[in-house]
Amino acid sequence: MSTKVVIGAQWGDEGKGKTIDILAERAAVVVRTQGGNNAGHTIEANGEQYKLHLMPSGILNPETLCIISVGVVIDPKVLLEEIADMESRGISTDNLLIDSRAHVIMPYHIELDGLSEAARGSSSIGTTKKGIGPCYMDKTERSGIRMSDLVDEEKFPNMVRENLKIKNKMIEFVYGGTPMDADKIIAEYSEYAKQLKKYVCDTTPILYKKIKDGEEVLFEGAQGVLLDLDIGTYPYVTSSHPLTGGVCVGSGIGPKMIDECIGIAKGYTTRVGNGPFPTELDDEIGEAIRQKGFEFGTTTGRPRRTGWFDAVIVRYAVRTNSLTSIVLNKIDPLGGLDTIKICTAYKKNGETIYDFPATLEELAQCEPVYEEMPGWKEDISGIKEFDKLPVEAQNYINRIEELCECPISTIGVGPDREQNIVK
Ligand code: GDP
Ligand code: IMO
Ligand code: MG
Repeated sequence: MSTKVVIGAQWGDEGKGKTIDILAERAAVVVRTQGGNNAGHTIEANGEQYKLHLMPSGILNPETLCIISVGVVIDPKVLLEEIADMESRGISTDNLLIDSRAHVIMPYHIELDGLSEAARGSSSIGTTKKGIGPCYMDKTERSGIRMSDLVDEEKFPNMVRENLKIKNKMIEFVYGGTPMDADKIIAEYSEYAKQLKKYVCDTTPILYKKIKDGEEVLFEGAQGVLLDLDIGTYPYVTSSHPLTGGVCVGSGIGPKMIDECIGIAKGYTTRVGNGPFPTELDDEIGEAIRQKGFEFGTTTGRPRRTGWFDAVIVRYAVRTNSLTSIVLNKIDPLGGLDTIKICTAYKKNGETIYDFPATLEELAQCEPVYEEMPGWKEDISGIKEFDKLPVEAQNYINRIEELCECPISTIGVGPDREQNIVK
């Protein structure tokens, strides 16, 4: 049995898609367990670029079974567009399965996401406005529509009508928006249902059997630890659990079925959306990293905020996720800097803090403590072996490993599948 969970160890966009695509070469199954099309996972392979939002990143491997599991929220329109895009590029989606229990993002969720963000004004979360939060709200409120309901011709229209009665009141009377038309939604979504029906089933016994049979299974996290609803920088978080612990509820397996917990980090820190960011660089170095690392959102195109590597954050990810190893992507964009800083701890009222604080109020009192290391000038994007990296890059990676208290297994030196160094 070999099951690996791959999660983002920072604020998302660490290169999870790239790493999953590489690992998927050997995997029988790749499973998405949480989040929705707020995720944007970029894969570069064979000179092509693929931007995946709902589709598991194993889809490029024709042998791999791809499961969109229980805990994911699905926008059917976006998923159908992704399926069509894959098929038009010669990639089969015959190996895709969608769990009956996954919840459906409805148009009123998207509308309410935008309206509630606007109502928050200057304290908005900076969501992707894809309807993620409102869809998970309905799920926990127990009024949500699941994939099994979407494909049920009798049940679906009534559920939309019942839900919309309440949602229209919220849209119109709470937020001052325009009410939505139930018949139009039913007609549009019933068409999507017809096209998606063949993929929908109970995926949990299939997954269980694959694991029992000793097949290699990969769980593909979306977002990152600091965007977790409980463990992250609440309320500037997403509405799901992008932790290794979230995988069990999100796919219907027990914790003893997980063998490896891999955290993906990048050689610096980024964040897209609002909220605190202790090591943020609001200067020309931050801008240089954004340009060199092409730090623009895969889903929304927003420029990502950039900053120095924060070992407090990744150590927190190691602790809250039982990480067994770290993949450190995007070392190459740091090339050319005279010196590179690493945040090793925070200073709070004169005290040195090594653990990530539980509240934003405490975090606001923290100042990063930096260690400065010499940078390197060489282009490292073609290097294949750790020993061939400039010694300054080796020292930087080794220091990160030491500070995060977790072994680094692989280093990313470029966006392509091939641009990887096994340490
Ligand atoms: P994900 O959401 O974690 O899958 O990450 P994204 O795809 O949103 O963002 C990561 C970006 O960095 C993508 O454009 C990747 O192609 C790219 N990338 C991944 N690894 C590396 C790397 O080691 N070096 C460089 N330069 N780019 C990388
Ligand atoms: P991947 O999988 C980075 C952020 C949004 C916002 C917050 C809440 O590509 O790493 P939401 O729309 O989820 O309610 O927005 O979460 N966010 C991400 N940031 N990468 C992602 O996914 C993200 N998914 C959501 O920017 O700050
Ligand atoms: Mg992304």
